[in-house]
Amino acid sequence: MTHAMTTLTLRVNGEDHTVAFPAHHTLLEVLRERCGLTGTKHGCELGECGTCTVLVDGRAVLSCLMLAVETEDRSIETVEGLMDGNRLHPLQAAFADLGAAQCGYCTPGVLMTSKALLEADGDPSEAEIREALSGNLCRCTGYHKIVQAVLWAAARLRGEDSAPSAEVFYGSPPPGQEASSSSSSEAHDDD
Ligand code: FES
Ligand code: FES
Repeated sequence: MTHAMTTLTLRVNGEDHTVAFPAHHTLLEVLRERCGLTGTKHGCELGECGTCTVLVDGRAVLSCLMLAVETEDRSIETVEGLMDGNRLHPLQAAFADLGAAQCGYCTPGVLMTSKALLEADGDPSEAEIREALSGNLCRCTGYHKIVQAVLWAAARLRGEDSAPSAEVFYGSPPPGQEASSSSSSEAHDDD
């Protein structure tokens, strides 16, 4: 069976990509297979996991559910466009510093959804972040560090010099350990 081909110029991360592809192909397929931008991940291809999220005209969309032909003359942003030269986007920096990515498969979609959120609201609450990310599934992290990383990136983007607590970085100490470590330091102070 032959498929009708089309040729379009897509504007991705500020660069034009003139590509030929079967007209029924999704934006996800064209980004990965024709533009060579494999940062956007294939997940369910059913609109359920969020790992394929990119921005189109600044709005987070599921690229597995959008035809590439719908994006002509529109601005597409993918995870490859997040860095500014050699400088990580504050979201990327916060995710790296906090260890908010484990296998990393969901991370490009999470970052793009978070970018759209922070551009619409520079000071979201934890509940608002959780709601915005409710369509981005992560099998690894339990979401806590993801949410904390978005809060930290938002603070950095507002110019605030605040870092998450030690518990956010390292987790809560096991029951009893905090008391015993402080009493051992007290014992040491008495020496
Ligand atoms: S691959 Fe698009 S939502 Fe899962
Ligand atoms: S870090 Fe593995 S799926 Fe989210």
